[in-house]
Amino acid sequence: MRIDIISAVPQLLESPFSHSIMKRAQDKGLLEVATHNLRDYGMNKYNQIDDYQFGGGAGMVMMIEPIAKMIEKLKAEREYDEIIYMTPDGETLNQQMCNQLSLGGNLMILCGHYKGIDERVRELFITKEISIGDYVLSGGELGAAILVDAIGRLIPGVLGDETSALFDSFQDNLLAPPVYTRPSDYKGHKVPEILLSGHQKKIDEWREDQAIKRTQERRPDLLKNWEE
Ligand code: ADE
Repeated sequence: MRIDIISAVPQLLESPFSHSIMKRAQDKGLLEVATHNLRDYGMNKYNQIDDYQFGGGAGMVMMIEPIAKMIEKLKAEREYDEIIYMTPDGETLNQQMCNQLSLGGNLMILCGHYKGIDERVRELFITKEISIGDYVLSGGELGAAILVDAIGRLIPGVLGDETSALFDSFQDNLLAPPVYTRPSDYKGHKVPEILLSGHQKKIDEWREDQAIKRTQERRPDLLKNWEE
């Protein structure tokens, strides 16, 4: 899978993909993340990428021309399943969307800045708009990093344990059950007996009960989907 990210501040995207699981995914050739500096396509000798908004009002707007040039260059090189714009007024990201996007071959992600992007970019190029939550970030880069991480770890072979992504919180609309490791007794705080019993069927039942209980307590809204 290849993901191209267009940003006015690509430096913000260096670290998230240079370590741990996202780095391993790229080293194994399962994921390719390419970042592109929008300023390389800026206008005039100042490489301008933003301008005052028509009609007045505070805040600069990202211009269509640099973005259009960048997107058209990438589109000429390969086909994209989605061209995504990270924005607080997009569809709120959830696990189902990540599952769906992880099946695609190539994705392009555009990160916004300032007051937003010229509306015509959305009309002409963007196929999907994604928000990572009901709060406003100073730019789309951190949201893009979250999106790529959530998608990347679902690509088969990326996680060491092939099955573990299936048991994540949200995969079946339930939160994950509690997990424990050694020591089995920490200053009198003991691991539930059942997990040490070696009785796999009972352990599985206990985990499901715990997942339901935790979801009931913390996210009863998810249980409605689970029951359906
Ligand atoms: N850019 C600014 N705020 C954002 C958000 N909440 N989600 C995605 N991109 C954003």
